[in-house]
Amino acid sequence: MSPDPSQTGGPAASAARALEFVKEGQVLGLGTGRAAAAFVRALGARVAEGLQVTGVPTSIATAELARELDIPLLSLEEAGRLDVTFDGADEVDPNIDLIKGYGGAHVREKIVAACSEQLVILVGAEKLVDVLGSRGKLPVEVLPFGEALCRRALAQIGCEGELRRAENGEPQVTDNGNHILDCRITPIDDAAALERDILAIPGVLGTGLFVGMADAVIVQDGDRVELRHRAGAS
Ligand code: A5P
Repeated sequence: MSPDPSQTGGPAASAARALEFVKEGQVLGLGTGRAAAAFVRALGARVAEGLQVTGVPTSIATAELARELDIPLLSLEEAGRLDVTFDGADEVDPNIDLIKGYGGAHVREKIVAACSEQLVILVGAEKLVDVLGSRGKLPVEVLPFGEALCRRALAQIGCEGELRRAENGEPQVTDNGNHILDCRITPIDDAAALERDILAIPGVLGTGLFVGMADAVIVQDGDRVELRHRAGAS
């Protein structure tokens, strides 16, 4: 049988490397997006071979994929603490701080990551940046009721937010029933301070900044896969 093209080459190689973190009986956070989906597919193949793990999905899309693959799932409340979460990212800096949320799932992703002993990120080398903000976009999830205030307050701190729209032109609605403002940004001097400033705005539910959260990143560059640990992380 010819191999499944989605499971050969780059993302599949990263996913295979990520599986080395997984141990029998663990509870795993399952991220959202293409890289996370490649991991979930690879995990599903191992589960089909007998590996016993349970997953906590970070989005409806990931939950659907995991169910198709017969990966047993738990709610976050049922799981309590998780062992490892595997996810993608949109920017990764040399400290393994991240910008996430181009796929709109960053609020749940951050909650699940915060419940996990370890956060392992899978990216292509094109996601590596010297300074966070280099790709010019920071997603911020906001309560629709507070959207106008959020937009004004974000602009005052230099983050002009544009409402993310679905293909039909309507505002894109997150799995949490909220909207996303994609903020135009330049490379960020102090990501932790920017995170604090944005979170202080009433109506903001979460930003795509993940500062000090990831423990390791698996970088795929062509046929090469490299594992990098956060300084001080095991
Ligand atoms: C979902 O909102 C995101 O945080 C994704 O994890 C991130 O956008 C990376 O997605 P891809 O692996 O699809 O590039």
